[in-house]
Amino acid sequence: LRRTKIKTLLESAEADIQVCVKGWVRTKRGNKHVSFIALNDGSTINNLQVVADPNIISEEILKDVTTGASLSVVGKVVASQGSGQSVEILAEAIEVIGKADPDSYPLQPKKHSLEFLREIAHLRPRTNTFSAIYRLRHAMIFAVHKFFNDKGFLNIHTPLITHSDAEGAGETFKVTTIDPKNPPMNEEGEVDYKQDFFGKETNLTVSGQLEGELAALAMGDIYTFGPTFRAENSNTSRHLAEFWMIEPEMAFADLDDDMDLAEEFLKYLVSYALDNCKEDLAFLAKRSEDEEKSKPAAERHDMGLIERLQFVRDNEFQRITYTEAIDILKNSKPNKKKKFKFIIDEWGADLQSEHERFLVEKHFKKPVIITNYPKDIKAFYMKLNDDNKTVAAMDMLFPGIGEIVGGSQREENLDLLMERMKQMEIPEHDIDWYLDTRKFGTVPHSGFGLGFERLMLFVSGMSNIRDVIPFPRTPQHCEF
Ligand code: 4AD
Ligand code: MG
Repeated sequence: LRRTKIKTLLESAEADIQVCVKGWVRTKRGNKHVSFIALNDGSTINNLQVVADPNIISEEILKDVTTGASLSVVGKVVASQGSGQSVEILAEAIEVIGKADPDSYPLQPKKHSLEFLREIAHLRPRTNTFSAIYRLRHAMIFAVHKFFNDKGFLNIHTPLITHSDAEGAGETFKVTTIDPKNPPMNEEGEVDYKQDFFGKETNLTVSGQLEGELAALAMGDIYTFGPTFRAENSNTSRHLAEFWMIEPEMAFADLDDDMDLAEEFLKYLVSYALDNCKEDLAFLAKRSEDEEKSKPAAERHDMGLIERLQFVRDNEFQRITYTEAIDILKNSKPNKKKKFKFIIDEWGADLQSEHERFLVEKHFKKPVIITNYPKDIKAFYMKLNDDNKTVAAMDMLFPGIGEIVGGSQREENLDLLMERMKQMEIPEHDIDWYLDTRKFGTVPHSGFGLGFERLMLFVSGMSNIRDVIPFPRTPQHCEF
């Protein structure tokens, strides 16, 4: 008898057939005459009820059926008496595959805090919340590839070990085989990286963009979807040291094309989740609603999770320039409840998260795309606008999240690009390969990066980025 997944069984089983199911015990309750075992195998948020009659399943076996134990159950499908599910299983044979000692298994059936669950990140997929998040995460990964595949974008793998710092923020993790206790030295008395593994200094990538551009300037429309690494020491609920980024890049495309693609993409992903992840979303919406109750009123969302997703799907995003954003902020009074206690200096300063939240959550009450930032606060590769002060950049801001997408039209003019690099002290010989695209057959091109975990925060309604990636890496935290 082959194993049937619980999802399949609950969706389509007919009564009276014999099945085999395998999974982990969530709870067991009952009395001398009957036991009810809630079994979950990860395929769905719903547990399967297994009914065990002590005349058929021995006391010896039932005593090992405790929360966390793994079981193989053979039994008959019967229509369920209880509400909420269509069928249950009348057990004919139960095998305990792996016991779970009730005295030491940490996930006893009670409410656990997210902080506690973060400490046992290796076991948390066995909870309803985390299994729902990881199924949703899978669905979003699939939707990313489906969206681009349907539009004719090619997926390109870009390297994780590189010699460049695409964003120029100097927040890279070094990759080296040099023994720090005994480094080889050169004649100048410096560490001799010529003797390192790659013969030069290397680091983990902060973005696949530069390599993505090389591909776009040959293949047209491409996207990358890979891990990126940033050693920024920001211990916030929005930053990870290792996160996944989706970076599309389009040849023959300007900033408007870029914004159009980003807006269509985000709407598609949210809509995909609404259509395909109904049960998990319903569970996460309820969870998020409970969490909201414990927050101070000023911190609460105006809408529930499902409504927030529908809102993004159905409404046009606001598009404004940086200069317009600054004018709005200058003319707004700080909020009395201290939620938006900001002072914006003058034109030229970078927007802080409180400014972004004000624009999105208070002023426009919808996702906002801000364009044309001052060149001095943005990366070297962005296209200089005719005003000579701003670049063709865009940041997309989401309610409750802040920046979810960052992108730009790229500087395709070789002279202007080299000029920017000189100003920002980026050595030409480091990225001569990048400059070749501007020397040979350059074209206007644009792209953006979507932080996958920021998307996951929005879609799942979770509040901490550590809870939407299975194995979070943050300052001082790298378990297993
Ligand atoms: O704005 P960023 O730094 O842009 C780039 O890396 C460009 N190369 C993208 C491009 O044009 N191809 O990062 C893009 C997005 C941010 O908007 C944010 O969603 C996410 O990546 N992000 C992070 N997510 C989690 N943890 C961090 N430390 C993040 N840093 C950026
Ligand atoms: Mg950014």
